[in-house]
Amino acid sequence: MSQRSTVILGTGSYAPARVLSNAELAQTIDSSDEWIHTRSGIRERRIAAPGEMTSDMAVVAAKNALEDAKLTAADIDLLIVATITPDLPMPAAACIIQHKLGLPTATACFDLNAACSGFIYAFDTACAMLSSGRYRKALVIGVEKLSSIVDWQDRTTCVLFGDGAGAVVVGLSDQPGVGLIGTKLGAYGESVDLLYIPAGGSSRPASGTSVSAGDHFIKMKGKEVFKMAVRAMEESARDILEQHGLTATQIGLVIPHQANLRIIEAIAQYLELPMDRFFVNVDRYGNTSAASIPIALDEARRSGRIRAGDITLLVAFGAGLTYGSALIRW
Ligand SMILES: CC(C)(COP(=O)(O)OP(=O)(O)OC[C@H]1O[C@@H](n2cnc3c(N)ncnc32)[C@H](O)[C@@H]1OP(=O)(O)O)[C@@H](O)C(=O)NCCC(=O)NCCS
Repeated sequence: MSQRSTVILGTGSYAPARVLSNAELAQTIDSSDEWIHTRSGIRERRIAAPGEMTSDMAVVAAKNALEDAKLTAADIDLLIVATITPDLPMPAAACIIQHKLGLPTATACFDLNAACSGFIYAFDTACAMLSSGRYRKALVIGVEKLSSIVDWQDRTTCVLFGDGAGAVVVGLSDQPGVGLIGTKLGAYGESVDLLYIPAGGSSRPASGTSVSAGDHFIKMKGKEVFKMAVRAMEESARDILEQHGLTATQIGLVIPHQANLRIIEAIAQYLELPMDRFFVNVDRYGNTSAASIPIALDEARRSGRIRAGDITLLVAFGAGLTYGSALIRW
């Protein structure tokens, strides 16, 4: 008996209404639109409204994905939420989102933390769980409220990040030749300190000292992260293509994690593909971590950049330092 394939049945996304431009940001820190745009490709990012939670953004993206898939909450029995900014440290954002969406009680709900690679990790996990035959339909959400963990006084990080949510509905199909071709996940755990939040975990619980030292904010060694990001994404893309006997020219569209336009350009050069084969929206959203790929995927589909039969490569890199790639045939 041939195994059924795992397919994306619908996509959705959401970005908060508030646009924070480089020019506006440069009024509060020593920076400029020119510096930020030249170094990162970012022009503006979205910021969640006061009181707007990670779960609220996730719910809108998920509803859009369900509508696109022509399904309802009752059809879902697996919810995986990729995020590093859940509403609460405990319990999982997935449980809050389950309730807000009205998903059935018999839905497996959990969060997954692989930072900016989180969506690919969650998607791979959902596909594996569906392939086991024990689940029917999964909702996979990548969502972040990074504005809540960014130090707005630190010009080396605050210019890079933004808020948003993306979601996909994943199911099984008997149609041969479509759906997930494969994934490749990994991590360089020795490089945790290149990109991390020092306090608030069990090693350094929150205290007056940790708060006044700003140790609950993202700390990053930007130059080192840049180099590792390029290397990991190049290797991950090369490995997955080799593994499935494909060449870069067979890829209709690459959807890379949207961290920095220069990182995306380096990958394009490495794969010897023109930039028009890459989906780019980092200029409008900045780096939304786990939300970046599902937002880009949704925008790519809705703008007609992905057609039936196309092969799409997703490739990401993030804190951990994690990396991941996925190949999908539509
Ligand atoms: C952060 C990043 C854009 C910085 O670009 P860069 O070319 O490496 O710049 P540098 O860090 O060398 O900084 C150059 C100078 O600009 C300054 N600078 C840093 N941020 C600045 C800002 N927002 N505005 C103006 N100047 C800034 C630095 O202090 C430094 O000044 P100095 O030379 O006097 O020390 C880049 O390293 C990067 O994108 N790294 C990867 C980050 C990332 O993607 N993280 C998420 C991974 S998922």
